[in-house]
Amino acid sequence: MIKLTINGTEYELDVADDMPLLWAIRDHAKLTGTKFGCGVGLCSACTVHLDGQPVQSCSTPVSLAAGKQITTIEGIGETAEGKAIQEAWKTLEVVQCGYCQPGQIMSAAALLKHTPKPGDTDIDKAMGNNICRCNTYHRIRAGIHAAAEKKSA
Ligand code: FES
Ligand code: FES
Repeated sequence: MIKLTINGTEYELDVADDMPLLWAIRDHAKLTGTKFGCGVGLCSACTVHLDGQPVQSCSTPVSLAAGKQITTIEGIGETAEGKAIQEAWKTLEVVQCGYCQPGQIMSAAALLKHTPKPGDTDIDKAMGNNICRCNTYHRIRAGIHAAAEKKSA
């Protein structure tokens, strides 16, 4: 049995310590916004925050998340950065098929938290591991700039 705090709610889950956090979140806590892409740390579709830091949940054992604040795409809109990112995503219609976008939004929200006014280089560095098969990279970059503007206005 392991206790996790996800989006401020406590979950007690009957899972093995070495289960990937992604499966605990999706299959046991039933929060399916976080996506499974490659499963081996290459695409970042599975990105969540642990104490505010972005991590790939497919490659993080659930035991490492115990005692930490886990934030998923279902909860990121409660933060100032997440809200600004989600609004910019809607205004600029960033999403195409949408599959990679929970991970993109989680990485973008973490970037804005630590770098409120990122330049293109900061964005490329922070978002470089998030793969989008629909090639929405230009709109993602514009969305991050728009969210940064809105937050600082
Ligand atoms: S599913 Fe985790 S990095 Fe691809
Ligand atoms: S929007 Fe389709 S994979 Fe990124």
